[in-house]
Amino acid sequence: MTITFITGANKGLGRETARRLIEHGHTVLLGARDRERGAEAALALGARFVPIAVRDDASVAAAAADVAAHECRIDVLINNAGIHGPAGDPEALTADDARAVLDVNLVGVVRTTAAFLPLLRRSADPVIVNVSSGMGALALTHDPARPESHVVTPLYSASKAALTMLTTQYAKGLDGIRVNAADPGYTATDLNGHSGFQTLTEGTDAIVALATEGPGAGTGRFVSRDGDVGWY
Ligand SMILES: NC(=O)c1ccc[n+]([C@@H]2O[C@H](COP(=O)([O-])OP(=O)(O)OC[C@H]3O[C@@H](n4cnc5c(N)ncnc54)[C@H](OP(=O)(O)O)[C@@H]3O)[C@@H](O)[C@H]2O)c1
Repeated sequence: MTITFITGANKGLGRETARRLIEHGHTVLLGARDRERGAEAALALGARFVPIAVRDDASVAAAAADVAAHECRIDVLINNAGIHGPAGDPEALTADDARAVLDVNLVGVVRTTAAFLPLLRRSADPVIVNVSSGMGALALTHDPARPESHVVTPLYSASKAALTMLTTQYAKGLDGIRVNAADPGYTATDLNGHSGFQTLTEGTDAIVALATEGPGAGTGRFVSRDGDVGWY
């Protein structure tokens, strides 16, 4: 049985990933920071709710301790929780804005991964999927044919570029664990006021593929539902 922990899974791409992985037969631990909405989503999908606020060291440690006490291991960690933060005019951005975005999208992934690594180490085939974005890919944000090139999102894009690099470095450094990044593509969720043109199911294709592929599938990759993302 594959045990999968997902952060930010009360709504959007995280929730749809939980739904699809349960369909695939995974036991899903649905992480969310809001107890009421997390419990509601878990009940609706048939998952177990685990409270986790990824900016909070104590909350992340408590989530890992909860899983250690109940399931004793995880096989797949999906670092999905993310925020967009302010977009547009760089002159309006503050250091506090930057700290807030990076603390969720990058530091939150380091915090969560560190806490859950001992649980992943108990798996026969441990996998980490980091939900990154094409908005952090140089190649896509400079290609006029791509939607990623038509918006200015300095903090979000910087956080996702850093997350993709974090992924490839973890892949090199973590022996025996596949660590890959997914680019969901522009998907209608609360994150973008539902302006994305993909459905939730399309937006989770790459995440689900990385979470369900078998041993030997490769590590340090950055993939979308269309295949490898050329990101530099
Ligand atoms: N939608 C897209 O087009 C798109 C494209 C590329 C990448 N992505 C990435 O996909 C991931 C999921 O985004 P989404 O589009 O599904 O957005 P969403 O619907 O806004 O969901 C974001 C999730 O992250 C959670 N979250 C935010 N801050 C958190 C914190 N401090 N601690 C714990 N959980 C926190 C949210 O919880 P609350 O409900 O409590 O706020 C929510 O569950 C993000 O990493 C995003 O960057 C999205």
